[in-house]
Amino acid sequence: MSFKKEIERRRTFGIISHPDAGKTTLTEKLLLFGGAIQEAGAVKSNKIKKGATSDFMEIERQRGISVATSVLAFEYNGTKINILDTPGHKDFAEDTFRTLTAVDSVIVVIDVAKGVEEQTEKLVEVCRMRNIPMIVFINKLDREGKDAFDLLDEIEQKLGLKVVPMSFPIGMGYDFKGIYNLWEKNVNLFSGDSRKHIEETIEISDLASEELDELVGETSANTLREEIELVEGIYPSFNKDTYLKGELQPVFFGSALNNFGVRELLDCFVEIAPRPRPKQSEERLVKPDENKFTGFVFKIHANMDPNHRDRLAFVKIVSGEFKRNTPYLHVRNGKKLKFSSPNAFFAEKKEIVDISYPGDIVGLHDTGNFKIGDTLTEGEDIHYKGIPSFSPEHFRYINNADPLKSKQLYKGIDQLMDEGVAQLFTLELNGRKVIGTVGALQYEVIQYRLEHEYGAKCSYENLAVHKACWVDPDDPKNDEYKEFLRVKQRYLAKDKQGQLVFLADSPFSLQMTQQKYPSIKFHFTSEFD
Ligand code: G4P
Repeated sequence: MSFKKEIERRRTFGIISHPDAGKTTLTEKLLLFGGAIQEAGAVKSNKIKKGATSDFMEIERQRGISVATSVLAFEYNGTKINILDTPGHKDFAEDTFRTLTAVDSVIVVIDVAKGVEEQTEKLVEVCRMRNIPMIVFINKLDREGKDAFDLLDEIEQKLGLKVVPMSFPIGMGYDFKGIYNLWEKNVNLFSGDSRKHIEETIEISDLASEELDELVGETSANTLREEIELVEGIYPSFNKDTYLKGELQPVFFGSALNNFGVRELLDCFVEIAPRPRPKQSEERLVKPDENKFTGFVFKIHANMDPNHRDRLAFVKIVSGEFKRNTPYLHVRNGKKLKFSSPNAFFAEKKEIVDISYPGDIVGLHDTGNFKIGDTLTEGEDIHYKGIPSFSPEHFRYINNADPLKSKQLYKGIDQLMDEGVAQLFTLELNGRKVIGTVGALQYEVIQYRLEHEYGAKCSYENLAVHKACWVDPDDPKNDEYKEFLRVKQRYLAKDKQGQLVFLADSPFSLQMTQQKYPSIKFHFTSEFD
């Protein structure tokens, strides 16, 4: 197959949702349709069960599974589909944000009864800011839930989306009869026992036909006719270009658990979802069909086996072909590196591959060369943008609890930070180290991993910090900035890249500081223009 065809047939996306909406179930059903797995239960949920905060076994289990489910690839009707896993747990939100830099589109799963939930809001906001094309799947129609129109309103208002229903439910919960597919103009009847097999669809070219009454009963048929009329009156018609620009979001209804409405979603996805998209680097826009290979690291995963402390760096291929045993430039450190065993991912396994294409993810064994955000090229000096650090929510001093192991401790901290587990800040005043995280869970993960992988012990000490703000003076030479550096010295730190950060101890002090030093900008993310 030609290079161009290989790019055209790839779809790389992520499924985002609040925990429990049905992301794992949907992923599994998609793989089932692709013939990549034979039975349900093969895809393991990587979510952290409630109350498992102190359960280290659970953390280890979670880490193991998250390697297995990081990328799931399968073929469907000649299309190569790559699903990138996005943890729903809020403590791992930053991991999800980074993964979203490597997807070309997303599917948003919403629970019909719960509607739009907190994590959905945050993740969709990130996708909206980046104009990532989104398809919405409303799940669990076999249960009682919100009225379809109310839910569509809620999605528009809370998520700031512009929706177009592509399918519409006939009844709901106990009374759920099936789905009318506006996209294909057919009816899919729900038998309540479709978990194992794939439903037949019935063509209905005309909603007015009596066949519909026979299929779903007169009352339901009439309700559906009215509802579809309303849908057609209220919502715009689907437009692929507008969807691809991230300005219009098609919506499907179904029940992932019952394998219902999933085929319709997948068929439409394959047809409309974007192929690998061009990516902006600091230097220029890079197109997938360029001959020369470029890619970037969006995730790093440590080996589970403490005796082999190598890691797997996940690289998204942006352009060109990535070939095994070929030297590529690691742009940040200027070194050429060759990879003898790059891994490609399939449904449940990974395999060494000779060649991968734009849209694909390769897993590279790494002994400590990579950081999240690193770029690989054939020689060109390119830096991909868009993997910023956000201000953490929690801050603690990290102390060495075993003075004989300080070397191990610092090496461990260094590597864990490169993996993106948390952020490290070093205070300007006394060099003390502060760890910032999105969730409290990460402190336990760090402590546990330092001990088990690096043989080092640490303890924490609380620190009252409200936000980390990256400092951006209009003029680094003016007196105002000099005064700021002097007066606020106690609150200043460097991040791991050496950028200056102001650790504001309260919203009030941040506000006062902003007022007092108007020529300095304070950013909540590490990347700004
Ligand atoms: P997540 O990855 O988004 O966190 O959700 P997951 O797929 O694990 O689904 C969460 C729960 O919702 C699971 O039940 C799952 O079986 C159920 N579920 C998913 N899709 C549907 C659906 O279409 N209808 C109904 N009624 N339930 C659905 P659980 O009891 O938490 O887990 P399990 O023990 O069944 O695995």
